[in-house]
Amino acid sequence: MDRITDLDALLDHVWTYVTEAGTNSQHPFRTPAFGTAGIDPPNLRTVVLRHADADDRTLAFHTDRRAGKVGQIRAHDRVAWHGWDPESSQQLLLHGSATVHTSDRVADEMWEAASPRELQLYMRPKTPGTPLDAPSDALDDRVKSDDLTREDVAPGRKYFAAVRTVIDEIIFLHLHPEGHYRARFRYDDGADEWDGDWIVP
Ligand SMILES: Cc1cc2nc3c(=O)[nH]c(=O)nc-3n(C[C@H](O)[C@H](O)[C@H](O)COP(=O)(O)O)c2cc1C
Repeated sequence: MDRITDLDALLDHVWTYVTEAGTNSQHPFRTPAFGTAGIDPPNLRTVVLRHADADDRTLAFHTDRRAGKVGQIRAHDRVAWHGWDPESSQQLLLHGSATVHTSDRVADEMWEAASPRELQLYMRPKTPGTPLDAPSDALDDRVKSDDLTREDVAPGRKYFAAVRTVIDEIIFLHLHPEGHYRARFRYDDGADEWDGDWIVP
């Protein structure tokens, strides 16, 4: 990847990069780390980036509404997204405020966009984190077939949630052979625009 020496071009690059990750399952930023804070210890986990949109500055994934991260977000909405792409030597860190959606349009659209195979993960009668006597995926027996339908996974809708983050800070680092460089962008709500700066890597 070329060095990007113009801040506007770099911001465009970042949003193009994450938007592509939201539609391409092979993209390096498809499975970033999602961090929650305001708790001890702070927490990180891998999620599948399902959607990103530069116009409303959002990144989104889906989850089980009973999962630990959901309570953490509800208690403290400041979150982080992080990814490292070893092929292009880019690191991306994004901060923002997250919201949990269970029964609104955001949740409905994400449920509709997912395949039965993806949605089977919500067919878990037991709450995530419940102790078990032996290793198990804890999935309902009804989803243990090869030709899953939407009807098979429909009961899982009651456990499904979409998590949407409105991004307000982006920190980009590129380990380029001709010199590392780093940029930080902060969203200025008053001016309704991003402010970018180069910063020491
Ligand atoms: C490759 C990969 C993708 C994952 N994608 C998701 C996801 O999209 N949503 C999700 O809730 N958990 C996902 N997980 C599981 C989480 O990393 C985590 O273990 C789980 O959600 C429980 O997290 P919590 O206890 O912090 O809520 C994924 C794990 C891996 C390894």
